[in-house]
Formats: sequence, structure tokens, C-alpha cells
Amino acid sequence: MVTDHLGGDYLRQALEDDVRAGLTSSPKRLPPKWFYDEAGSELFSRITRLTEYYPTRRELEILRRRAVDVAGLTRADTLVELGSGTSEKTVLLLDALANAGTLRAYTPVDVDAVTLAAAAERLAVRYPGLDVRPVRADFERHLALLPRNGRRLVAFLGGTIGNLPPAAREMFFKELRATLRPGDTLLLGADLVKEPSRLVRAYDDAQGVTAAFNRNVLHVLNRELDAGFEPEAFEHVALWDEDNEWIEMRLRATRPMEVPIRALGLTASFAEGEEMRTEISAKFRRQGVLDELSRAGFAVCRWYTDSAGDFALTLATVVSG
Ligand code: AVJ
Repeated sequence: MVTDHLGGDYLRQALEDDVRAGLTSSPKRLPPKWFYDEAGSELFSRITRLTEYYPTRRELEILRRRAVDVAGLTRADTLVELGSGTSEKTVLLLDALANAGTLRAYTPVDVDAVTLAAAAERLAVRYPGLDVRPVRADFERHLALLPRNGRRLVAFLGGTIGNLPPAAREMFFKELRATLRPGDTLLLGADLVKEPSRLVRAYDDAQGVTAAFNRNVLHVLNRELDAGFEPEAFEHVALWDEDNEWIEMRLRATRPMEVPIRALGLTASFAEGEEMRTEISAKFRRQGVLDELSRAGFAVCRWYTDSAGDFALTLATVVSG
């Protein structure tokens, strides 16, 4: 039932390439997409329920208030959701589109097969007439393979766009624009710049759930690449990068280590205190979002924020031509 663009060798090759490049570069880095195996998706789900982690609740608040408006403006028949995860917020959009009488199809797109299948199943049960077509894909590489028919609303929620550095965002928006036609729309979730202490707390919670989520990438490497990381020997670091206006998560080696990545025939040496970057989560300002979207050929038609001004949903149409 799941259309899989990550089958066969693909995911394996991508993981090998990312890990080889990331662990041999200086400073070391790993892309955040490898957090999300089954355990990682579950940990992220726990993060969204933490008091410190406000984005999910803020975005939900906006969707509760604005989903009907979005449905009325877009009149979409096909909802494509990038990085859908558990699709918890999606029902608000689906309900609104169903009530507007336009909804026909839903395509959740995610890298984790288990999460994707579970979400697709749940929504197919909840919306009996809905054509649910889950796609397992990497939203940075497979945009051209998404459904081509219908009047589409592409939802990219949660602030995941912030995981991409500016150059990659520019490419992503341009590629997305190229797959869309006039009448199609984009609903983009973006976390906003705010007091650094609140931002840091959201990524370094008291219970250590985010720390476990961060270390989970090492478990993934151990399992998938027969690596020898001792996750507990790495400390979770979350810091606010003022210049780039992003939160950066790192794993800091608490002692010198030689870590074999057996499947790659590679040994990664860590000095005591050495930090490896595992995620950036960029925070945005209104003008920045408008500029980035307009450079890619989108026109912003609505800018919705929650009552605290913590998070924004941007509704954009494609500029013809
Ligand atoms: C799922 C990418 C939106 O950046 O806030 C949560 C991931 N990382 N806590 C984010 C995350 C640490 C999250 N996104």
C-alpha cells in the first residue's frame, strides 16, 4: 500500500554516504533525518508533549483556528503532507477540506515506513471515502515523484523546514515550486525567533527526552552500520546560534574514543570534548519567510500566528509562469 522510493539499496546508500561524509569532515556532523527510526519517531512524539517544547501546541492552536480558512482559500482536493510523522495535526486540515466538500485524496510522505503505514491506516479508517496514498520518500530528493493530479495543498508542518540550512531551503522551495501548478498551494509551518532561553529549553528539556532523541542517531548507526558507538558516552548539547538564528544540537564526546563503523571500514576518532553536529533547527522572521518563498516563485497569501506569536503558518500560492 505504501509507495516506496526508499526501497532496495536507496536508503542504505544514502545513510552510508551521509555517515562517511559526516564523520570524516571537520567538525563532524550527521544529518537529522537519521533520527527517525521507529524508536526515534516515538521519542519525537514524546518531545511534542513536553512542557518545554511549545511548537507543536502552537501550531495546533493555529490550525484549530485557521484550518477552515485554509480549506476555503485553497479548495484543495489532494492534501500532500511532507514529513507527516504520526499525522496528528493532519485531521484538522482533512476535516476542514472534507467539510468544504473538496477533499478526495491524502498523500502522507515520510521516511519511516512503520510510522507511515500506521498513520495511513488510522486515517483510512477515520475517512472511509478518502483515497489515502502514503509515499515513503525523502522530501529533499523525491518531490518530483509526488502525486501530479488534482488541486494540491502541500503541507509542510512542524517547522521541519528549519532543519535545512539556507542554501538547501532555497533548492527545496524551488524544486517544490517546479512540481506545482497554478491553483496549488503550500502551507508551511515555521518556528519564530524568540527569547533564546526559551528556545534552548525547548531543545534541552528537564526530563532528557531530547537528549535521548539526539543519542538515538548513534543507536541507528550501531544497528544499521555495525558501528561501535557508546551513546551514553556522548553528552547532549543544545545551543542558540545568534548569527544564524538557529538552534544547533550536538553530541559531545565525554572522553577520547575510537569508534569503528564496521560496515564502512572506517574508524571515527573523537577527542575528549569533541562535538558533532546532529541538527540545526532554524527560527524565522516574517520577512525572511516572505523573501525565501518569493525568490522561489511563491506568493504569500496568509500569515497566521498563534496568540503568543511563537510559531507561524504561511499559506502561499504559486506565481504563474
Ligand atoms: C521535527 C524538525 C520540527 O526541529 O524542532 C525536536 C525536531 N529536534 N527536538 C525541531 C526536534 C529536537 C523538530 N522538527
